[in-house]
Amino acid sequence: MTDDILHMRGITKTFPGVRALHEVSLSVRRGEIHAICGENGAGKSTLMKVLSGVYPFGSYEGRIEFDGELCRFGGIKDSEDAGIVIIHQELALCPQLSIAENIFLGNERASRGLIDWNRTNHQAGELLRRVGLEESPVTQVADIGVGKQQLVEIAKALSKKVKLLILDEPTAALNDQDSAHLLDLLRGLRDEGITCVIISHKLNEIIDIADSITIIRDGQTIETLEMAGGQVTEDRIISGMVGRDLDHRFPPHEPNIGEEVLRIEDWTVHSPSQPDRQVVSKAGLTLRRGEIVGLAGLMGAGRTELAMSLFGRTYGVGISGRVYKEGREVHIRNVQDAVKLGIAYATEDRKRYGLNLIEDIKRNISSVSLGRLSRNGWVNENEEYRVADQFRRSMNIKAPSVQSVVGKLSGGNQQKVVLSKWIYTDPDVLILDEPTRGIDVGAKYEIYTIINQLADEGKAVLVISSELPELLGLCDRIYTLSQGRITGELPREEATQERLMYHMTMGQE
Ligand SMILES: Nc1ncnc2c1ncn2[C@@H]1O[C@H](COP(=O)(O)OP(=O)(O)OP(=O)(O)O)[C@@H](O)[C@H]1O
Ligand SMILES: [Mg+2]
Repeated sequence: MTDDILHMRGITKTFPGVRALHEVSLSVRRGEIHAICGENGAGKSTLMKVLSGVYPFGSYEGRIEFDGELCRFGGIKDSEDAGIVIIHQELALCPQLSIAENIFLGNERASRGLIDWNRTNHQAGELLRRVGLEESPVTQVADIGVGKQQLVEIAKALSKKVKLLILDEPTAALNDQDSAHLLDLLRGLRDEGITCVIISHKLNEIIDIADSITIIRDGQTIETLEMAGGQVTEDRIISGMVGRDLDHRFPPHEPNIGEEVLRIEDWTVHSPSQPDRQVVSKAGLTLRRGEIVGLAGLMGAGRTELAMSLFGRTYGVGISGRVYKEGREVHIRNVQDAVKLGIAYATEDRKRYGLNLIEDIKRNISSVSLGRLSRNGWVNENEEYRVADQFRRSMNIKAPSVQSVVGKLSGGNQQKVVLSKWIYTDPDVLILDEPTRGIDVGAKYEIYTIINQLADEGKAVLVISSELPELLGLCDRIYTLSQGRITGELPREEATQERLMYHMTMGQE
C-alpha cells in the first residue's frame, strides 16, 4: 500500500472570465519529490495556491486531504500550521530588511516582548549554513541577487515545521551550479522525510530529481508519470504538456550582421552598499546591427549590474568608462537618456522593476512610450489599445483581453508583457536579462523567434542568460564575465558549454 500524504480531488477554481482549474486531481506520496509540469497559464501556481490556503476553503470546489485530515484552510497561516509551506514563484521577501529579519518575519525570536537579536541572527546563521548560503544574516536582502534570495526563502521555510514544501519554480533564477546546489538540498530534505512539490520549466532538472511528475494542461490533469526505471524523457514530458511533439528547441536563423551600434570601454561599476568594491571592472563589449550577443556568467559575476549600470545608471555608484553609440561617445545619466538613445533593458526581476502589477496589460506595454502615444498631454487610448492588442496576439499572451490586470497573469505571460513593453520603444539595442526565465518550452520557442526577428530588423540584442544551451542555441557571439571582468569572447562556431564554463570560472578559486 502506498502512503500518500496528499490527495487533491476534483479541484475547480474560477476567476472572473477564466476557469483556471477544472476538476484537477493530484496525489503525492509521503517523502517523495513530486513535480508539476505544464505550459504557462496551465494552472500550476493556482493549484498550489489552493493547496496552501492563499485561495481559502470555499473559494474553490473539490476536496483536499493532507496527512489524513480533511483541509479547510482559511488562509496561509492554517496551511502552515498543518505543515505546508509554499515558496512562491515571485519571491516575496522585504528588500529593506536583513536576511535574518526576513527569515523570522511573522515568527520572531522574542523574549518578554522584545526581539532577541542574538538568537535571531544565530539561528538565521544556522539556517543559512543548511541551505549553503554564504552571507551574513545581517545583510540587507536588497543587496543580494534573486538567486540568493531564493535560498533565503528556503531557509525561511525550514524555520517552520515543514512536512510538505512547495517550490514554485525555485531554480528559474539560478544558474546551473546554484540550481545543482538547490536540487541537492531538496534531496537532503527528502532524506529527512520532507515531501516536496516542485514546479519547474527546467525539464532536465525535473528528470534529475523527481520521483513522479503530474502534467497539467489547460487547467486539467493530463497524467502522472512515474520516474522509477528511467524511461521518461524530456520529449515525453513535453508531448504531455503541449499535446503534440515538438521537433526543434531553437528556430533556424541566418544572421545578417552590420555596423557597430554600441560599444563600451573600460566600464567600471562599484557596489552601492560597499563603494570600494568593484562589481564590474574595466569591461568592454561591442554590439552590432542584426547581431544576437550573449553574456554568460555565474551568479554574482556582474551581468545584471553591467546591464543596469549601462541602462541609465539604474545600478551602481562610481561608474566610469565610455559608451559609444554608432561611433559617437554618449553620456547616459538616467533611464530617459537611455531610452532616447534607443537602448532598452528588459529586467530579470519583473516584479520589482519590470511591471506595474496593478495596471492592465495595455498600460504596462505603453508605459515607457506614452510620449509617442499622446498629443497635447492626452493619451490616444484607441491607439494604445490597438498596439497592445497587436502584442497580445503576436506574443501569444494568454489573457482574456489587454484590459486584464498584469498581476493576475501567469508568470510566463507577465514576462511576455515585459518584452512587449520594451520592444514597443523600438530600440536599436535591446538588452534582455533572462528573457525566458519561467517560460515553458513552447513559449521559449516563440520568444527565440521574436529575438531573431528583432535582429533581422537590424537591432542589436544582448541576451543575458544562465542557461548555456540557450545562449549556444540563440547567439552569434558570446561574452563571458567572471568577477566583473570580461574573460572571453567566443563566436558561435567556437562556443561550447565546456569552453564557456572555463571562461566563466576564470580567476575564481
Ligand atoms: N488572481 C487571478 N485572477 C484572474 N486570473 C487568474 C488569477 N490567477 C491566475 N489566473 C489565470 O489562471 C490561469 C492559470 O494561471 P497560473 O498562474 O496558475 O498558471 P501557471 O501554470 O502557474 O503558469 P506559469 O508557468 O506561467 O507560471 C491563467 O490563465 C491566469 O491568467
Ligand atoms: Mg506559475
